[in-house]
Amino acid sequence: MSATPCLWIRNARILLPNGEWMVGDVQTRARTIIQVAPEIAAEEIIPTAREIDASGLTLLPGVIDPQVHFREPGLEHKEDLFTASKACARGGVTSFLEMPNTHPLTITQAALDDKLQRAAQKCLVNYGFFIGATPENLPDLHTANPTPGIKIFMGSMHGPLLVDDQEALEAIFAAGERLIAVHAEDKTRIEERRKIFSGITDPAIHSQIQDNQTALIATKRALALSKKYQRRLHILHMSTGEEAELLRQDKPSWVTAEVTPQHLLLNVSAYEKIGTLAQMNPPLRAPRDNEILWQALLDGVIDFIATDHAPHTLEEKAKEYPNSPSGMPGVETSLPLMLTQAMQGRCTVAQVANWMSTAVAKAYKIPKKGAIAPGFDADLVLVDLNTYRPVLREELLTKCGWSPFEGWNLTGWPVFTIVGGKVVYEKGKINTEVRGEALIFN
Ligand code: DOR
Repeated sequence: MSATPCLWIRNARILLPNGEWMVGDVQTRARTIIQVAPEIAAEEIIPTAREIDASGLTLLPGVIDPQVHFREPGLEHKEDLFTASKACARGGVTSFLEMPNTHPLTITQAALDDKLQRAAQKCLVNYGFFIGATPENLPDLHTANPTPGIKIFMGSMHGPLLVDDQEALEAIFAAGERLIAVHAEDKTRIEERRKIFSGITDPAIHSQIQDNQTALIATKRALALSKKYQRRLHILHMSTGEEAELLRQDKPSWVTAEVTPQHLLLNVSAYEKIGTLAQMNPPLRAPRDNEILWQALLDGVIDFIATDHAPHTLEEKAKEYPNSPSGMPGVETSLPLMLTQAMQGRCTVAQVANWMSTAVAKAYKIPKKGAIAPGFDADLVLVDLNTYRPVLREELLTKCGWSPFEGWNLTGWPVFTIVGGKVVYEKGKINTEVRGEALIFN
């Protein structure tokens, strides 16, 4: 039997739960943080504890990425739970919530159990899996366990996962209480506009086909259903200024929303530079949308950040639009992207930690995560805010092997990532022996 893992992290700049900073030490035992103090006396340190000199580094709660597509089972040529979780470890992501558009779809307890079993075997970070809604699986949506919630694709097409019919949507919102997360794009409008713009192969047309109205119509519809049934609603990857303004005016207390780093930092100008690598659903928008989304995030209208990590191979992405698939990877770059924004004065480091960890744990009711305090899980990331390094294709660990942010010079790269008290990433190296745990949703 291996000894209980214990860590003594010394001299870190620690983000405290009240948002203040303290230079000091953290001690962990097994999976738990047991002590946080300006200095822990040598006699209080568990003799077997591994000492990590964190001088000059910043200690944040591990990132919880609440929307990823990790492709296993069925699409492992793009990504699998092992490669995706290695990318998470490098990116400081210690927990993720994964989406149901795998093959088979995660629409039954059996499919959910299968994913949980696979993750227990090969996942280096903590995991949770959404159950996907179809027009037919209402009973499964009630009973599936454990799951962060029900995912509804209102417009984007993944076979039976599309739920667009009003009666079917009403039935899902009316029954039960668990969180409903929506991909809000209107199918009817997408289909109409595909016809209008058919034959155009410039990927920039993607943002015009699935335009701002396409997203707004569906978000309004989801919001109306949520209000009618007082049902817990989460709006995934909100992409437009119009949706942000709508929520600013009218956001019930039981509704949350997220935004991706790419919808904050990229816009339609990206098509010129990276072509179909910029294609995703919902699409990239105008600079004006970037600005409004940022302001909504700063003002708390948008609650937190997700990457929508959606890897496709370069070969698949090289197909001519519209045959090229939508989606881009994100778990490896999200934290340094956002911390770079913080260091450039757009927001604070404490806000980034809230949006990427604390607020996510709160919204999904994940116990003992999202803070550096005794009794919380030892899911931590030590980042270097003093050095800038570019995003390099050859360093990426995601199986798809590319990033829309290649060449971006970023700071805040993880130096150590710790999952359940074990170092899973250290200065460029992954410890493949570490395994995460299934997340709990209270
Ligand atoms: O661009 C996207 N790709 N958006 C989604 O919601 C799904 C994802 C995928 O699975 O490829």
